[in-house]
Amino acid sequence: MLFQKTARSAAALFGFLFCLSLAAQAQTSTLPNVTILATGGTIAGTGATSTTTVGYTAATVGIQTLIQAVPEMTKIANVSGEQVFQIASENMGNEHWLLLAKRVNTLLAQPTVDGIVITHGTDTLEETAYFLNLVVKSRKPVVVVGSMRPSTALSADGPINLYNAVMLAGSQEAIGRGVLVAMNDQINGARDVTKSNTTTTDTFKASELGMLGYIQGGKPYFYRTATRKHTVETEFDVMNLSTLPQVEIAYAHANVGPVAVEALVASGAKGLIHAGVGNGSLPAKVRPALSAARKKGVLIVRSSRVGQGIVARNGEANDDELDFVAGDNLSPQKARILLMLALTKTTNTRDIQKMFSTY
Ligand code: SIN
Repeated sequence: MLFQKTARSAAALFGFLFCLSLAAQAQTSTLPNVTILATGGTIAGTGATSTTTVGYTAATVGIQTLIQAVPEMTKIANVSGEQVFQIASENMGNEHWLLLAKRVNTLLAQPTVDGIVITHGTDTLEETAYFLNLVVKSRKPVVVVGSMRPSTALSADGPINLYNAVMLAGSQEAIGRGVLVAMNDQINGARDVTKSNTTTTDTFKASELGMLGYIQGGKPYFYRTATRKHTVETEFDVMNLSTLPQVEIAYAHANVGPVAVEALVASGAKGLIHAGVGNGSLPAKVRPALSAARKKGVLIVRSSRVGQGIVARNGEANDDELDFVAGDNLSPQKARILLMLALTKTTNTRDIQKMFSTY
């Protein structure tokens, strides 16, 4: 009798627990599935003390620790993590980008993945974001995030930035907007954003063109959208590539000579970005070296070190005559990315010029 009573109570308890667990499952199944791909940087950095905000070591904390540090994320998404590599982003190479892009595309092709967050060092974050903006083949959200203070610092910005990035990557609002950068409660587009200050937490800006929106109270608020083509609208496909063409940047300044251009061409560059002064002007001693490089088949893009504004085609140089490309308003480091990808498709200057007006 006693045994039957105990068995009935146990069955009732089991049933109750089973229902609870079903309810919990139903609750989490309504949450978006967001995968965090960790690559290193200050967001995964550690300093000697809580006041060490310079002179710390980047890329030391692994993905699981990053996730455990923000348990609040489990309320807004089903979060999983992968350590793709662990580097300070000044060491980011084309090989890292190819690996990362392939992983992002593979994951986003799975119906069970709703969005991706990439944790990244801030030094080259804008470059990785723009590269992915051109080669990710999905409308699902991809959000790149970093921090300016290491994880051990007082008021570290990594945890809140990561929380916001996961929220954004799981949101409907971020679908189809290209690769986004979420830091400091602001949302920026990959093409326009740049690191604008060496150390402050509000460093990521799209200065003249402006941010796309804010994150406030755990929600994204968009006010504008990217107009240049990106992701599924581009012609670039890196899934079968194991290398990218060598493209280098030659920086112009007062008293500049041909040394850098000649050395870069001799090193085997297939393309050169002229980071010109002003409107991409060609200093008299650099022009013959660039012209000679073009005659040898090296693609030349005129960009500007100014940081804002369009480099006008046939403005400060006769691009038609020199067979150069004008770099639109891309920074030299972003022009390098577009030229590398362009060279995977064509060496025709006119076609490449069109790409610079499209992406
Ligand atoms: C890095 O870019 O890896 C170091 C600097 C940073 O993340 O802020």
